[in-house]
Amino acid sequence: MNARPFDARSPAPTTIEEARFAHESEEEFARLLDFYGVRWQYEPRTFPLQRSDDGRILEAFSPDFYLVDLDLYIELTTLRQGLVTDKHRKLRRMRELYPNVEVKLLYRRDYVSLLTKYGIGAVNEQEQMSVSEVLYSASEIERRIGELGSAIAHHYQGRELLLVGVLKGVTCFMADLMRHVALPVSIDFMTISSYDGDRTGAVRVVQDLSENIAARHVLVVEDIVDTGMTLNHLLRQLRAREPASLAVCALLDKRARRLVDLPLDYVGFEIPDEFVVGYGLDYRQRFRNLPFIATLRPEGSARGPGTDSP
Ligand code: IMP
Repeated sequence: MNARPFDARSPAPTTIEEARFAHESEEEFARLLDFYGVRWQYEPRTFPLQRSDDGRILEAFSPDFYLVDLDLYIELTTLRQGLVTDKHRKLRRMRELYPNVEVKLLYRRDYVSLLTKYGIGAVNEQEQMSVSEVLYSASEIERRIGELGSAIAHHYQGRELLLVGVLKGVTCFMADLMRHVALPVSIDFMTISSYDGDRTGAVRVVQDLSENIAARHVLVVEDIVDTGMTLNHLLRQLRAREPASLAVCALLDKRARRLVDLPLDYVGFEIPDEFVVGYGLDYRQRFRNLPFIATLRPEGSARGPGTDSP
């Protein structure tokens, strides 16, 4: 963390070119935000935590990023435990003093697993990943999808529904969900690019919907919502096409890792902060055909892919 002076008047850096990042991981994180069109400022503000009797600042905290549209500060930590403890203390103090300011600490393991998710960086290409623990069996998934289908049918009664799926992870879920929604439904799919560590890219629509969604009731069907950045981007795009209504049904909600807080109208299961595969979900395009949902770990390891102690 590179503290800017409390009274700094120059505008905070908002591009990778302008920012002088203190750490490589900060630059990688900025690239990821750029990819998803999440506007950021680098260390825009220093929060005094302790002052002397004559008002001088004795201790302060400058979160690494401010995500402008989300009104959220992010502090990345790649440090060892001893220093993390100090950061925790500062964060606690900051939350006491500035209760209206939202700040989130991203640990090294969060950050690494963010990149692992996109198949870059963290895990050695040669490393064998294997299924570790079944989280939801085929029959548990089926039962829950039955409940989701009934709730959706009840809510949309008397209306025509368009289910919009984001490929490819949603294939199994869409196929099963639509058979449990006892209403006239249409389906359509979209493919959007995902982050590949490229320095320049931005998320783009690789294959667009074939249907016009204006004035229609649209339910976005998602396999999993993790940080929320993909869905945030997608909803922005779809909203601009003026549907009559726009709601979201996600099979899995990895709530603990959310950066963009989006309301999810229907959720199958809330899952812990683990990398999961199966039932459509992949790791580097593999494991989609498993009929159950399971955690994935490097072979012979007790921990998740790319995880590291904070
Ligand atoms: P988000 O933008 O971080 O919310 O990520 C959403 C996308 O990341 C999903 O649509 C998945 O394609 C992928 N993803 C996130 N977590 C996992 C996981 O645990 N296993 C497989 N893919 C995942």
